[in-house]
Amino acid sequence: MPQIGWYGLGSMGLAMASNLQRHLATKKALSLLYSNRTMSRGAPLQALGGIPETNFSKLVSNCGIIFTMVSNDSVLQSLLSQATSSGHSLKDKIFVDCSTVHPETVSTAVSDLKAKSASYVAAPVFGGNPIAVDGKLVFAIGGPRHATEVVKPLIQDVMGRRVIDCGEDATKSSLLKIAGNIVTVNMMEAVGEAQVFAEKTGLGTGPMEELIGEAFGPVAGGYSKRLTTGAYAPSLDSRPGFGVSLAIKDARHAMAMAEERGVQLPCLELARANMEAAREYGGECLDSSAMYGTLRQKAGLEFWNEKSRKG
Ligand SMILES: NC(=O)c1ccc[n+]([C@@H]2O[C@H](COP(=O)([O-])OP(=O)(O)OC[C@H]3O[C@@H](n4cnc5c(N)ncnc54)[C@H](OP(=O)(O)O)[C@@H]3O)[C@@H](O)[C@H]2O)c1
Repeated sequence: MPQIGWYGLGSMGLAMASNLQRHLATKKALSLLYSNRTMSRGAPLQALGGIPETNFSKLVSNCGIIFTMVSNDSVLQSLLSQATSSGHSLKDKIFVDCSTVHPETVSTAVSDLKAKSASYVAAPVFGGNPIAVDGKLVFAIGGPRHATEVVKPLIQDVMGRRVIDCGEDATKSSLLKIAGNIVTVNMMEAVGEAQVFAEKTGLGTGPMEELIGEAFGPVAGGYSKRLTTGAYAPSLDSRPGFGVSLAIKDARHAMAMAEERGVQLPCLELARANMEAAREYGGECLDSSAMYGTLRQKAGLEFWNEKSRKG
């Protein structure tokens, strides 16, 4: 097993990298080399045996497999361009990106890395931070077979409970992730609407939450908890579970692709508008479920609820 590197220690990346480092330690393999814009985020990973490396190009030159888990397309593009323009050989290296990015970004990455005799594997994930902590994410993996076969054992039962193989075309796994997030974002909108309805009619959010969890499953129940615990608008010194801007990015990717192909996504469009209104009102430190705050306002309630931050 070659040296493995990791860039990106946000809400998802830190949990995933920690599970990978624990696995490597169990296998007595080389410790994970990690990097992040904010290096201090890596302290818990270092405590597990991970090795910090501030310079991404150096990390790439020292590793055979490089995982990235970053916020969006432009951050990924900038990292890959650092790697391809560093002057170091990338021959036979495998880049594995777990972020949610547009299939066109994936397609460019595939060809840029192929030109350097390196491989690109798209491995976006389904599930939020608590699921990442538990190592139970669902991965959609796509890329050259020789590379995905090397990467799968680092994912299955390490960071994920299930690996969906999307074949050799890496853009397919990115497409699956974008399609999946149509469901995610619409479900958050639906749960938010139901909870505002429950509050305004006097039914109460407690029985509503019990029903949502029982009848519609733990994912929908988890979205309800983000509202009732106030996690949709966490305190300003914390990081949201799934930042509102990340979900807006995902919705925009889906809508752009849908428009090109003459597909209408009216529910997603509504949810995106409500998330954008929430961000306009409450700023960046909001969870993707913060469309709930907008729905509250539309119903004559305050944006904030009794458990959320208050401004
Ligand atoms: N959160 C979820 O529930 C979830 C679920 C599935 C998929 N995803 C996707 O997974 C990806 C990561 O999500 P996340 O929730 O972990 O995001 P996050 O908490 O916002 O973390 C983003 C990561 O990207 C880095 N970053 C941001 N801007 C940067 C820049 N300009 N230059 C260098 N690094 C930069 C951050 O560094 P710093 O630490 O220095 O800020 C951090 O490591 C996103 O594509 C998201 O859509 C998220």
